[in-house]
Amino acid sequence: MVIKKNISLKAYNTFGIDVKASRFVSIASLYELKQLLNSEKDFFLISGGSNLLLTRDIERLVVHINIQGISIDHEEENTVDLTVNGGENWHEFVLWCISENYGGLENLSLIPGNVGTSPIQNIGAYGVEVKDCITKVEALEIATNKLVSFSNEACNFGYRNSIFKNEVKGKYILTSVSFRLTTKNHQLTTSYGAIENELAVQKIKIPTLKNISDAIIRIRKSKLPDPKEIGNSGSFFKNPVISKKQFLRLQKENPSIPNYPVSETEIKVPAGWLVEQSGFKGKRFGDAGVHEKQALVLVNYGSATGIEIFQLAEKIQQTVFKKFEIALEIEVNVVAS
Ligand code: EPU
Repeated sequence: MVIKKNISLKAYNTFGIDVKASRFVSIASLYELKQLLNSEKDFFLISGGSNLLLTRDIERLVVHINIQGISIDHEEENTVDLTVNGGENWHEFVLWCISENYGGLENLSLIPGNVGTSPIQNIGAYGVEVKDCITKVEALEIATNKLVSFSNEACNFGYRNSIFKNEVKGKYILTSVSFRLTTKNHQLTTSYGAIENELAVQKIKIPTLKNISDAIIRIRKSKLPDPKEIGNSGSFFKNPVISKKQFLRLQKENPSIPNYPVSETEIKVPAGWLVEQSGFKGKRFGDAGVHEKQALVLVNYGSATGIEIFQLAEKIQQTVFKKFEIALEIEVNVVAS
């Protein structure tokens, strides 16, 4: 465990924001992490850096969680239980599951980030959320240096939400995630329109896990920027939920507004549509911009600062509010200290 000084964090956040850490340490095992916690309690955690907007240099010790490893805990006739350490790359883990014929996570192909942060915002795409397969999350309690286990229920998962973003925020370091996946009779989720179209284009009638993963990779590549080429953090805003009353008012003026009923009285509308209708899709302000194919994604074309991206987000929020009276909530973690 080596503490380095004055390290650029550009390679550690998918937005590619070039801020500095005055001290930086990469942690490769639970043992190292426990040792570190004996002497350091005030630090800034970074893992895959895929849901993060850094707006200034970090004066605290930056701790990069890089604990690798997958273990098979238990097998039943139709299922397998796995525990995956937090520093494993999410997409590589999903591809490994597909190569082993383990089903459940294929719709979450190509999501950037690491396994250890996947439960925090309950990553989701194409009709599946990671909570559907999680059995347990293990985390180190910073105050006591003790390993604590959270059952799926205790994680309090919601849409892009969990206990780790709320009640226990900042109190734990997630070290591993356990999953139950299927080994036979996979329950495939193909109802999402874009997947059905993609499978039809490929003339696939009875899809395998790999067919679904490949379809999703193609869909994502066609509209989401690859962070290795253009810095971004995926969806920058959450899809807002509004009252049915407000929705019906909006629909009168905008008959084409896409919508997903959430309950009898509430409707979810896509933030990407709201941002596009507000004129921002494909717009560029210096090196900060709104992606040309998906208005929900803010991008860094090279040397945008975190503050420039944040100011663009504020401008979008204000314009959307003026036009639709909907307050867009930022989904990415904005780090200001
Ligand atoms: N839309 C527009 N303009 C745009 C973008 C979208 O009009 O620029 C409209 C689309 O036409 C469609 C609707 O909005 O009718 C929904 O678009 P899409 O299917 O692309 O999904 P989304 O709601 O924009 C969510 C997730 C994505 C996830 C996709 C697919 C959130 C905040 N985002 O996006 O997650 O990949 O569904 O399931 O829930 C992420 O979190 O980083 C992420 C990429």
